[in-house]
Amino acid sequence: MSITRFLTGITTTGTPHLGNFVGSIRPSVAASLTPGVQSFYFLADYHALIKCEDPVRIQRSTLEIAASWLAAGLNPEKVTFYRQSDIPEIPELTWLLTCVTGKGVLNRAHAYKASVDKNTAADRDADDGVTAGLFMYPVLMGADILMFKAHKVPVGRDQIQHIEMARDMAASFNHLYGEHFVLPEAAIDDHVATLPGLDGRKMSKSYDNTIPLFSSREQLKNLIGGILTDSRAPGEPKDTEGSALFQIYQAFATPDETAALRQAYADGIAWGDAKNTLFERVDQVIAPMRAQYEELIHNPARIEQTLLAGAERARALATPFIRELRAAVGLRSLAQATAAPKPVKAAKTALPSFKQYREADGKFYFKLVDADGRLLLQSTGFDAPKEAGQAIAQLQKDPDALQTLAQRLAPVEGVSADDVAAALQALAEAAAAA
Ligand code: TRP
Repeated sequence: MSITRFLTGITTTGTPHLGNFVGSIRPSVAASLTPGVQSFYFLADYHALIKCEDPVRIQRSTLEIAASWLAAGLNPEKVTFYRQSDIPEIPELTWLLTCVTGKGVLNRAHAYKASVDKNTAADRDADDGVTAGLFMYPVLMGADILMFKAHKVPVGRDQIQHIEMARDMAASFNHLYGEHFVLPEAAIDDHVATLPGLDGRKMSKSYDNTIPLFSSREQLKNLIGGILTDSRAPGEPKDTEGSALFQIYQAFATPDETAALRQAYADGIAWGDAKNTLFERVDQVIAPMRAQYEELIHNPARIEQTLLAGAERARALATPFIRELRAAVGLRSLAQATAAPKPVKAAKTALPSFKQYREADGKFYFKLVDADGRLLLQSTGFDAPKEAGQAIAQLQKDPDALQTLAQRLAPVEGVSADDVAAALQALAEAAAAA
């Protein structure tokens, strides 16, 4: 059986909550037990530095997240479970990838662009308050993924663009220096629920509406008591649709139990009773893990040891791999024989290229970027990847297809029709010459 490598990182800036458990911890632990799967899960503490300047919080969060994953059943014998900052090869690879990543590509990263847009709207300098760390975030993430030759990267939809970028970095590097990297893909699980928080919006630290995964039984009861409901009285039928309480219950209960609560809603269950039902069900799942968690969190030295053992396993792969990559780019011992430098394949590397990808809306897109990563052409969404592929094929064959496809193309600010035509012309000529 061929092995599929899954890899995912958890930024160490917060305390795990029920939404993290349902959306990430529980499915990841379950996936790690699948035969034929090799899992790499790590604490992304270098990434945390981009968002958090409080050293105490970084350390505490690292401890809490590690303890949570272990308490939730992650088996560190089976999963390579490590802390990013224990792998010095990762920042080293970040630099190698930085050198094959177009700055223009990073300009378009969602998180960076959001900061720029916010500044622009407020009439501030575009980069006001933006660190180079935020700008480089996708490259560090690319290094995380490419270092361990991950095939699949389970992430939320908001991270899809980062995986696409990692793919592009891998492809550029492979093109320049030979086949070293596996091209990773995002793995989005549509069956995994996004939990609503106390106020009904998505449970998220940034909304301050979370229920911590590990609080005491009493705290859990109090927090669940604070979930927003409507003002219907006991005896009045209640809507399950849009009920945060119901959705959280569903994520913890069996289908039969969920059907029973649905019926109780229709029969007019009192909100107090519904909250109690939810509390008992969640607590039933959490209680055994809570005991584990308490034991772990009071024994940080043991967690430290587990992480160091994980890092040792990770480095057994990373150390020889970075050696290979250094040699590939020419960071070599001078005592080794040097070959005559190869002529630079200028024409080949300067070509624009089409990229296909899928967006959070589920549709398929393509874009044309020049060799420096500057966006030249942007499609609208296609329902099927094949349609996007056909449009690309048309454009590659015949620059005039720009006219026939005009409706499927979104305008790109600051790019003239001549630039696009010239790029397509260059592609067509290169294809004819090949
Ligand atoms: N950026 C991810 C997030 O915020 C965390 C992360 C860092 C990550 N490195 C990664 C996820 C590598 C997957 C793979 O959720």
